[in-house]
Amino acid sequence: MSNPVHIARNDPARLVLEGLHCVKHASRFGARLGGLWSDRPQEVLALARRLAPDLVPLLEAHLEVVSEAVFAGFCPRPPETRLLTVAEKPDYRLADIGRGPVVLLDRPRHPGNLGAVIRVAAAADAAAVCCLDGVDPWSAASLRGAAGLHFALPVLSLSELADFDRPLVALDDAGEPLGTAGLSRDAVFAFGSERDGLSDELRGRAARTVAIPMRPGVSSLNLATAAAVLLYALARGTGQAGPAPT
Ligand SMILES: C[S@@+](CC[C@H](N)C(=O)[O-])C[C@H]1O[C@@H](n2cnc3c(N)ncnc32)[C@H](O)[C@@H]1O
Repeated sequence: MSNPVHIARNDPARLVLEGLHCVKHASRFGARLGGLWSDRPQEVLALARRLAPDLVPLLEAHLEVVSEAVFAGFCPRPPETRLLTVAEKPDYRLADIGRGPVVLLDRPRHPGNLGAVIRVAAAADAAAVCCLDGVDPWSAASLRGAAGLHFALPVLSLSELADFDRPLVALDDAGEPLGTAGLSRDAVFAFGSERDGLSDELRGRAARTVAIPMRPGVSSLNLATAAAVLLYALARGTGQAGPAPT
């Protein structure tokens, strides 16, 4: 049997999604899936009945059972839930970005962390996640970290700062405290790299800089945690001047 997963891994227009959560979110958010494989179908179906009943009809109709050896050939580092699919990679454009906060990551270094940002951005109904250089947001580790939520909002890689036509707000511990700053939700919120923080260029271009208050002695929050705090403050209306959105 030719290896469809291996072929997809080498195809820039396709993605391999690993594990139940990735497949679940991809399916819920409209991904075009091209096959489903498992070497432990009963385990996968039992978990889906418990955690994602909406996925069960799809699995019952399309899950292809393969041997353990074939599955290992598809996926040398198998996910905990032994389920794989192949999806068309969305071709997001800047023009796809709607209203709401845009998360801009400046040279993110850790794919899992980047995935966690995408996951919380999807949960908080952000408009997009854009990466300015840094690691590939479409890597297997990032897809796993995001639990497949790349299909829930535009995710873009940029090689230079785009003209978003919205205010740019920098997140940095030296800024004005979040909560006192009247922030528009329809802004671009820039977060720095895990090790180096924000570039001088982004700091210089930001209309304002906002800090999430921390206890003295704590140097910074994890990147995804900082994004979560900001996005939920915006969603609840506690980071902005106007009333909370309904
Ligand atoms: C792990 S931190 C980077 C720490 C880095 N050593 C530095 O010098 O900024 C990653 C990014 O998360 C955001 N961040 C972390 N803690 C923050 C805080 N308390 N207030 C605002 N932004 C924060 C910033 O954008 C920061 O660049």
